[in-house]
Amino acid sequence: MKHLWIIANFKSNFNLEQVLSWLEVVGPKLIKKENMSVVVCPTFTSLEEVKKKIQSSNYPILVGSQDLSPFDEGSFTGEEAASILKQYVDYSILGHSERRKNFAETDELVAQKVNEAKKHNIIPVVCVQDESTPIPPGVGIIAYEPIFAIGTGNPDTPENAEKVAQMIKTKDAHLTVLYGGSVNSDNCEAFIQKESISGLLIGKSSLDPDEFLNIIDKLLTY
Ligand code: PGA
Repeated sequence: MKHLWIIANFKSNFNLEQVLSWLEVVGPKLIKKENMSVVVCPTFTSLEEVKKKIQSSNYPILVGSQDLSPFDEGSFTGEEAASILKQYVDYSILGHSERRKNFAETDELVAQKVNEAKKHNIIPVVCVQDESTPIPPGVGIIAYEPIFAIGTGNPDTPENAEKVAQMIKTKDAHLTVLYGGSVNSDNCEAFIQKESISGLLIGKSSLDPDEFLNIIDKLLTY
């Protein structure tokens, strides 16, 4: 049985109250499963309370950030250093295409962020747009997220996603590859059934707690 990562990327959505009500719907209904890691990535401002709520309620959910600073703590106004984030997160989504596009993130900057994450024991989940995106050294989890599929309702085909995942794995057989882009409860199984795909990075469909639970439900037998 392969290990599955199901990662909810809330992007720039949900205030604290909304995140906590999402957690109150999803948390109690999630069944703890040894081979499934469910990770929620809210905005920075909610991380602390999300972490507290998960711990105090003993929900089987891990916490991730959607980004982190390429620098250590110090004079970097507006940045969130990995050493500070580590109090709340175990994972961090890095190099998302929305950051590359809207904030001019380069492969070099993503590599610097990966470095910071690893220094502070945060597991980087690096987004690549196809097999040609460079993968920084030391990365274990890759999310293949083709631009045309993100937030469009037009996912890649599971067959093509598998092909790209295989190509990514030829760079390093130990890489874990997730798929992201218009995943929902109707198409999630088709991706997970593919041999080289070990999880999903879910944006829009993760915002609806019932839809997110439907996705998890469908994957419980894998
Ligand atoms: P989407 O976003 O599920 O809304 O397409 C996925 C992502 O950008 O991580």
